[in-house]
Amino acid sequence: MEEQLLERANVLVPPEALARQRDFQEKIRAMFAAREAHPLACVDTFGCQQNEADGQRLKGMLREMGFTLTAEPREADLVLLNTCAVREHAEQRVFGNLGIFTHTKKENPEQIIGLCGCMAQEERVSRRVRESYRHVDLVFGPHALWRFPELLWQAYETKKRVFSVEDQHGFIAEGLPVERDRGVRAWVSVMYGCNNFCSYCIVPYVRGRERSRDPEAVLAEVRELVEAGYKDITLLGQNVNSYGNDLERGYDFSDLLEEIDRIPGEYLIRFMSSHPKDATKKLFDTMARCRHVAKQLHLPFQSGNDRVLREMNRRYTRQQYLELVSYARSVMPGLVLTSDVIIGFPGETEAEAMDTVSLVEEIGFDALFTFIYSPRPGTRAAEMPDPVSRAEKQVWFDKLLAVQNARSASLHEAYVGKTLKVLVDGESGDPAFPLSSRTEGNRLVRLKGDNSLIGQFTQVRITGSNTWALYGEAADSAHPVL
Ligand code: SAM
Ligand code: SF4
Ligand code: F3S
Repeated sequence: MEEQLLERANVLVPPEALARQRDFQEKIRAMFAAREAHPLACVDTFGCQQNEADGQRLKGMLREMGFTLTAEPREADLVLLNTCAVREHAEQRVFGNLGIFTHTKKENPEQIIGLCGCMAQEERVSRRVRESYRHVDLVFGPHALWRFPELLWQAYETKKRVFSVEDQHGFIAEGLPVERDRGVRAWVSVMYGCNNFCSYCIVPYVRGRERSRDPEAVLAEVRELVEAGYKDITLLGQNVNSYGNDLERGYDFSDLLEEIDRIPGEYLIRFMSSHPKDATKKLFDTMARCRHVAKQLHLPFQSGNDRVLREMNRRYTRQQYLELVSYARSVMPGLVLTSDVIIGFPGETEAEAMDTVSLVEEIGFDALFTFIYSPRPGTRAAEMPDPVSRAEKQVWFDKLLAVQNARSASLHEAYVGKTLKVLVDGESGDPAFPLSSRTEGNRLVRLKGDNSLIGQFTQVRITGSNTWALYGEAADSAHPVL
């Protein structure tokens, strides 16, 4: 027991260490003030919502250091690429971008170029950057994110390249500054890391072991967001269903949802992702009961074939997945269900890929995130024989897409004529339907109406649809939609 408590102490960054980082923030601010400089920083984030949330923390720290944020890397004094390693394509894009920065740095030799996020944590990547991208000044992985002020100060002071990419279990740093997007949506990480080691996936190698934030810290953050007017709050974790395992308090994710739900206000709570092996009836019963919890579930199944699921190390079967969905739907009629799928896992046959397509047909998802397998060096699957050509995988993938697109289009069609509650979250960029909004199930609805509706929950009548979106007007509007 004592040893486990000690482990927790090793995970939580102590307040003195965070105070030291604030000192570094202040030193950088003072350095620019002495030069009467008004530095600009550009943070470009790739990948998942967890990385977006990290990007908002980096921006928060930069603000504290006196930087103004810009979207234009050319004019920035500091460029940070906050990267994703989940598929090869994402990595290639980043290396392409890094190449471009040789030019911006030629124009502005004082410019600092930083690489952070999941790619930076890969030994193979940091080595390549060290050797072949000598204009990159600062490289740090997710484990060192909380030490960003210190690392940046080091880069300014020593004028040498700084690398902080050691392989670690990872940390929890509470109270880092944050620069959130304005609007109605916000992210809250409830845990970090992953222990699941699905055989295709790089995430456990770059994000460390599962660490749950204390429930008190999560509750305080959600309360603050609700009070600040955020209305659509997504709780994040690679597998929120294992939230609390490391806290040893007998407190799980359902308990957290239940407590959050008691926070007064008009808001929705969503969460992602849920691993089917750890999804419980208790979770679904809690979702059904909690007024603020959206009746929407992202439950990635990855493959509809048991042999492939075993090779992927997913630890559930097709039948178990079907049973989970059936229970969730029984307690939440109208549940919006989405999932992630991989086609072309090493050794997958056409018949096995078609098992995935048939599961999609059988369940009828509201939306799917579909991927063709991408080998990630260092993972177990990357060592497996992979005899099927990319072209053949693409044919299977297209079949899957055709099934899902037909399903999405017919689901959307069935909404036409109905009245729904939506949250208007911004402008759509479409002059005919200038507002963008989301249903409780997170479905996109483009709306006629004026900007005063932004940030409001409102009733809308659905007047049209296609595969990707619904179209509508405020239900009490006097103007018919053509
Ligand atoms: N932790 C989440 C879960 O297990 O549900 C998923 C996180 S991962 C960032 C998002 C999705 O990327 C996965 O669900 C999987 O479908 C896909 N993915 C991960 N590794 C992949 C790979 N090597 N090739 C293709 N897709 C991959
Ligand atoms: Fe990757 Fe699996 Fe962890 Fe999700 S649960 S992040 S797919 S290893
Ligand atoms: Fe997310 Fe990509 Fe890292 S999906 S956890 S940013 S590898």
